[in-house]
Amino acid sequence: MIAYTIYIVDDEAVARKGLSLALKKKQYVVKAFESAEKVFDAMENILPDLILMDVGLPGMSGVEALKRIKKRFPDVIVIMITAYEDVQTVVSAMKYGAYEYIVKPIQMDALLIILRNAFDSISMRKEIQNLHDKYLNENLPCFIGESNLIQDVIGVVKKIAKSPDTSILIQGETGTGKELIAQAIHYRSPNFQGPLITVNCAAIPRDLVESELFGYEKGAFSGADQSGKIGMVEQAHEGTLFLDEVGDLSAEAQAKLLRFLENGEYYRVGGTQKHTVKTRIVAATNKDLSGLIADGQFREDLYFRLAVVKIEIPSLNERRDDILPIAKHFLLEFSRKFSKTFTAIDPEAEEALKQYVWTGNVRELRNMIERGTLLAEGPTLKVKDLGFETRNNGNGRHARSNKARHMLKKNHGLLVSSVIVAGCGGGVPF
Ligand SMILES: Nc1ncnc2c1ncn2[C@@H]1O[C@H](COP(=O)(O)OP(=O)(O)OP(=O)(O)O)[C@@H](O)[C@H]1O
Ligand SMILES: [Mg+2]
Repeated sequence: MIAYTIYIVDDEAVARKGLSLALKKKQYVVKAFESAEKVFDAMENILPDLILMDVGLPGMSGVEALKRIKKRFPDVIVIMITAYEDVQTVVSAMKYGAYEYIVKPIQMDALLIILRNAFDSISMRKEIQNLHDKYLNENLPCFIGESNLIQDVIGVVKKIAKSPDTSILIQGETGTGKELIAQAIHYRSPNFQGPLITVNCAAIPRDLVESELFGYEKGAFSGADQSGKIGMVEQAHEGTLFLDEVGDLSAEAQAKLLRFLENGEYYRVGGTQKHTVKTRIVAATNKDLSGLIADGQFREDLYFRLAVVKIEIPSLNERRDDILPIAKHFLLEFSRKFSKTFTAIDPEAEEALKQYVWTGNVRELRNMIERGTLLAEGPTLKVKDLGFETRNNGNGRHARSNKARHMLKKNHGLLVSSVIVAGCGGGVPF
């Protein structure tokens, strides 16, 4: 059984002692304090699960203490204890987050029931948290990165994921992991139980953008499905709408999206009823949006709506410390997948990977390791298995020969097909 910790705050010594004894008998860990100030000092060291807080305290009042506790330690449950005359004060203080109140003289049986319910809700909350963490560990692809640059990105993602609706724009070269970051944001956010809907803005035909995004009513236009259609925006309700390749949206689609982002309202094509949804927008692009804005190809007002928080993912060439950890991660992943015995990368191959100029970023590295593990035998991945002949390209870095480039291009279809990123298998999905 978990021994829950209860702090009692009451200025009357007799009340403190009586309550402490009774609760200790019930196997709770109990500490008693005569003022709010003293309990705050104690909370700097050890946080209790629950506080029984008298309302009429000398110094800081019980209600003031409740407000502060809930602001700083929202997970600590507070139950107010009040004299009959003060019930009104306590009832209005419930809005500050008190779990319950109990009137003096305390009926022990009633208090024990309230405590049991409170602790049940704590253990349920912990269970949900554990399940969520387990789900993340088992299902989310790993985002590997040890460089300072990528650690900064991960730090920002962890912070902003906590809000359910802040719009986020992810920028980075092709293959740097923008989609992976969008997934991490969704699954780490309060919307994680809702859907993650991906819209590839570059792939939707121009004249279908509005109906794809916002849906249509039956018979809205010739060729429309008779039963009507729910748009992607609506499908993303209480989840995340990932607008991939947002830099490719047509001017018309940009205008429609802007109207929706301004007030969260939209109409289905052919419809007259206004709809609203709650969703978080994550947009991504490998284009230079500032350049597109300067050229009049992307609306600046839309940019500001999308980029409430902007995440720049540096290219792999800018964070060379990440190359080997990522390569080793893929080596194990593909070794398992192809039932091979790879356990290490040869030092010469490591050096070549570190020196290479990665124009396709992590995707190119992934493809190279996939090809190597598929075609070679192991247990060590050699430089010849990587499919490039190395030469010094003037910057002191190895570049791939034309022949090797050609080979890789030829195999590209094979390499990227059927690739599913493995879960982190007990590691942290970052
Ligand atoms: N840091 C990383 N750790 C592990 N895998 C990664 C990492 N970054 C990217 N990948 C993998 O590399 C591949 C490319 O990543 P992703 O599709 O997210 O890139 P992208 O930035 O969206 O590229 P594009 O602009 O071409 O759409 C994916 O298989 C992804 O899982
Ligand atoms: Mg992408």
